[in-house]
Amino acid sequence: MYDPEEERRQYLGCPGQSHLLLVLHLLLITLLAGLLTAVLVPELEDPSSQGKERIYQELRQLKARVDSMCRPCPWDWMLFQQSCYFFSKSRRNWNDSVTACQEMQAQLVMIKNDEEKSFLEMISEHKHPSWIGLSDVGREGDWLWLDGSPLSQSLVKYWKKDRPNNDTEKNCAEFSADGWNDVTCDLEKYWICNKSSWPCSNK
Ligand SMILES: *[C@@H]1O[C@H](CO)[C@@H](O)[C@H](O)[C@H]1NC(C)=O
Ligand SMILES: *[C@@H]1O[C@H](CO)[C@@H](O)[C@H](O)[C@H]1NC(C)=O
Ligand SMILES: *[C@@H]1O[C@H](CO)[C@@H](O)[C@H](O)[C@H]1NC(C)=O
Repeated sequence: MYDPEEERRQYLGCPGQSHLLLVLHLLLITLLAGLLTAVLVPELEDPSSQGKERIYQELRQLKARVDSMCRPCPWDWMLFQQSCYFFSKSRRNWNDSVTACQEMQAQLVMIKNDEEKSFLEMISEHKHPSWIGLSDVGREGDWLWLDGSPLSQSLVKYWKKDRPNNDTEKNCAEFSADGWNDVTCDLEKYWICNKSSWPCSNK
């Protein structure tokens, strides 16, 4: 039952029409090799500083192109003073907002100065009130940022009128453009995260 045609197919390791594929593969490899040779050989065969200079120049151009693609913040985050800010589009309670920011390697915002406060105010002017990383869950009336630092005296004036109102049920701070409010932590609200921006070179 010897079939020379069958043996030939087995020798090639694949049946019938794969011949064509094999040929195409070889052709492709040849083309790639040719292309590489055409690009590299002139550079390598040119030992002069001119050849090197050309390579450096190409590398510089490549670097410039990569730099121009560098974004300091992830898509959908805003840059302000080397930090990136994210304004949520959904609502969660305060605890879950803390977690949501952590999951993005960020923190619920901690407002430490007037510039940050003004920036957030400007951006959130037409937005809903949002959670910030300020609460007195530890001890009533002792308002602390998530990193344990106290609300500085210079920022106390940003509470709304008669707030915080010393209600033991209202332990989380809500930010809005017209003042901060102490509210119940299990309300579902929008939230704002912050993290450091990525360094992009300035050229
Ligand atoms: C934002 O994050 C940066 C870096 O972690 C920090 O220095 C800055 O104080 C933060 N600002 C706010 C408003 O959270
Ligand atoms: C809340 O308590 C502080 C002192 O702990 C007091 O100065 C403040 O006036 C109180 N606020 C209200 C609205 O009762
Ligand atoms: C938030 O988490 C703390 C502990 O991390 C817990 O004691 C508290 O009950 C939680 N609050 C809500 C509203 O889930």
